[in-house]
This record gives sequence, C-alpha cells and structure tokens, in this order.
Amino acid sequence: MKDLRIGMIGYGFMGRAHSNAYAKVNHFFDLPYRAVLKAACARDKEKVDAFAKQWGYESVETDWKKLIERKDIDAIDICTPNNTHKEMALAAAKAGKMILCEKPLSMNAAEGEEMCQAVEKAGVKNMVWYNYRRVPAVTFAKQLIDEGKLGRIFHFRAKFLQDWTISADLPQGGAGLWRLDVGAAGSGVTGDLLAHCIDTALWLNGGIKSVSGMTETFIKERKHTLSGKVEKVGIDDACAFLARFDNGSLATFESTRYARGHKALYTFEINGEHASIAWDLHDLHRLQYFDHRDEGPLRGWRSIHITDGDHPYMKHWWVPGLQIGYEHSFVHQVADFIESIDGKQAAQPDFRSAQETQKVCDAVLNSAKSGKWESAK
Ligand SMILES: NC(=O)c1ccc[n+]([C@@H]2O[C@H](COP(=O)([O-])OP(=O)(O)OC[C@H]3O[C@@H](n4cnc5c(N)ncnc54)[C@H](O)[C@@H]3O)[C@@H](O)[C@H]2O)c1
Repeated sequence: MKDLRIGMIGYGFMGRAHSNAYAKVNHFFDLPYRAVLKAACARDKEKVDAFAKQWGYESVETDWKKLIERKDIDAIDICTPNNTHKEMALAAAKAGKMILCEKPLSMNAAEGEEMCQAVEKAGVKNMVWYNYRRVPAVTFAKQLIDEGKLGRIFHFRAKFLQDWTISADLPQGGAGLWRLDVGAAGSGVTGDLLAHCIDTALWLNGGIKSVSGMTETFIKERKHTLSGKVEKVGIDDACAFLARFDNGSLATFESTRYARGHKALYTFEINGEHASIAWDLHDLHRLQYFDHRDEGPLRGWRSIHITDGDHPYMKHWWVPGLQIGYEHSFVHQVADFIESIDGKQAAQPDFRSAQETQKVCDAVLNSAKSGKWESAK
C-alpha cells in the first residue's frame, strides 16, 4: 500500500471531521493508499501543536505557504474559511499537490472558475467536500433515481434550517463567527447551507436552468470582533428560491438561521411520476419511499432503515440493523477520493462539478437583488 501524505490547513469543525475520516478510512476500506496525517497547519503554534498531538499528526506548520511547498506532502486539505480557499488552492495546484477543498468551493463563481482552470492546467486530482452525497441514504436515493424508480420527476423540495444567529448581540467576524462576516464567508445561508442543498439537487436531479430568489438580513448591524466597531451585516440571514431544472421539474429551496428550534434541519423530498423520496438529516440513516405501483390497500410511505450490506457503503461497517452517523460521510468521501487517485475518473464532486453550485448561488443572489428570474448557467 502506498502512502497518501496529508497536509491539512485549519483545525476547526472540519479539521476534526476530516482528521477523523483519515484516521478511520483504512481500517474499514481496502484501499490502494494509506492516509498519513503528515502535517497540520494553522496560525497559532500552541493551538496547532495541541491539535496535532490529539489527532496524531506527525508535524505542524503555522504558514500554509510553507506547508504547500513541502516535498513530503501529497495532498492539501483546505479546511479554512471561504475567503482563503482560492489562494490556497491556486498555490497547491501550482505546487502539483492534490487538493481536497471544503465547500463552498469559493466566494463566487468568478473565483471558482479560476480555481477550476488552475487544477485543470496543473492536472492535479481535486475534490470538494460536499459530504452529504456520501450519507448512505442519500447515495441510495441517487441509485433509485438512476434506476428510473421515480419515473419522470416533477418536484424537488429542499430546506436547511438553523436558529443560532437570532440574538442581535452576537458579533460578526473572527474565530467561530466568520460565517456572519461577508468578507470571510462571501454570502450567508446561500453559500453556507443552500450550497449543500444545491449540490445534492444537481447530483440527484440534473442541472438547474434558472432561479428566482429572495434574501433577507434580519439584523442589519453587528459589532465586528476584529475591528471592535458596529458594522453593517453583509450576509443573507435567510434565503428562499424557486428553480427550474433542465429536466422540466420545479423546485423550492429555503434556508435560514432564524428558524427557532431547528439546529441543522436539512431535508429534501422528490416527487416523481411513480414514486417519491424524502430524507431528513436528523434521521439520516432512514430513507422514506412511496411507490404508487405497490398493491392498493398496502400502499403507503415506507421508512427504509439504510443499514443492510446491500445499501451503499454499509458492507464496510457493522451488521444489518446497526446504523452509522454524520462523521461516516467524510470517511466515505476520503475512501472514494483514494479510490480515484490512480484512475481516470475524478472523485465527485470535483472543482468543475462544485462550480455548478457556485453558479446557482450567484444566480440566486443576483435574482434577490434584481427581483427577476436569473439564468443559473
Ligand atoms: N462539508 C460540510 O458539511 C461543512 C461543515 C462545516 C464547514 N464547512 C466548510 O469548511 C470550512 C471551514 O469551516 P469550519 O466550520 O471548519 O470553520 P472553523 O471556524 O471551525 O475552523 C476554521 C479553521 O481555519 C483556520 N484558519 C483561518 N484562517 C486561516 C489561515 N489564513 N491560515 C491557516 N488557518 C486558518 C482557523 O484557525 C480554524 O482552525 C468552510 O469553508 C466551511 O464552509 C463544511
């Protein structure tokens, strides 16, 4: 088995989720490469030292440029706020490193295009961490759709609801709160939460042609942690949009951080000619399925427990009936990336595929400003 030497930038939420995935993946999957936690990078030496010790990284860096220059690193994993993705990815591509980049790919589609061109020119393997594709129930939904079980698709309905920014006293910017700072995040719920819904939707139901969106910023000013001053809030707190898919189906998407009581309620439902599918992140190991072709009096929604060996990814884990969770979606994504390294096919979504989500996000934000339908192409 060859080594895949990882250099990871950022040790926050995603730094931990990815480190856990690298640590586990070779125990559960037979793969051509072994993930090696070579170096962790962040700006604060003391903190990154502690992180490296806890997670088993061999070394640390405090300057990501030095990490990228290192000859003993094969792949750069970008787990930092959105405004850093482009510069890091361009440098990593130039240095010939493989790149695993957190979502959203970029601050906007113009940046995303530069990043796509950079990895394509350098010919380096690349992937974006839209991990929900690898929740077995969601992967199973994709299989059912591809097998034609739903028939013609009429509707796609997605939402992603949270409630953690309702307090007007919450500052914007800095560690942990960069998502409220438009300069670091690029946008609010559109790029942070709806990007996940859009990626899943594009994967399951094909391209989006056009969108009509509305956004709102409920709290207009917040103190900025870095400047100490009260500043205008530039992100969207809530966003809802209508979409038309290339296949003729209609969609509604909604996201907010102001839905009191909801922490991470990501749900989608798809209605087809023969059957419907529904999924809920709070119950992620189940897929709801209704098939109109079932026998009349017994017809009804089934709640399928996605834990059998013939469900996607599940043969790698425990015995039927025992479920897995959120963190496993990252393990699956690493496994798929490693499988792709020596092959011709890129692990999906690669930068070019994630760029489609950037285009939809841009179109939604443009539509919210213009008040008109906008092309997502
Ligand atoms: N796939 C998912 O479901 C998912 C979930 C959460 C976050 N994300 C994405 O992951 C990325 C990081 O989010 P997070 O929640 O882990 O953030 P976080 O705030 O928890 O961690 C960010 C990390 O980046 C480091 N950092 C910031 N600027 C840096 C720099 N210039 N050089 C080196 N290190 C730097 C910080 O020190 C911190 O360790 C974002 O792009 C976010 O959108 C994806």
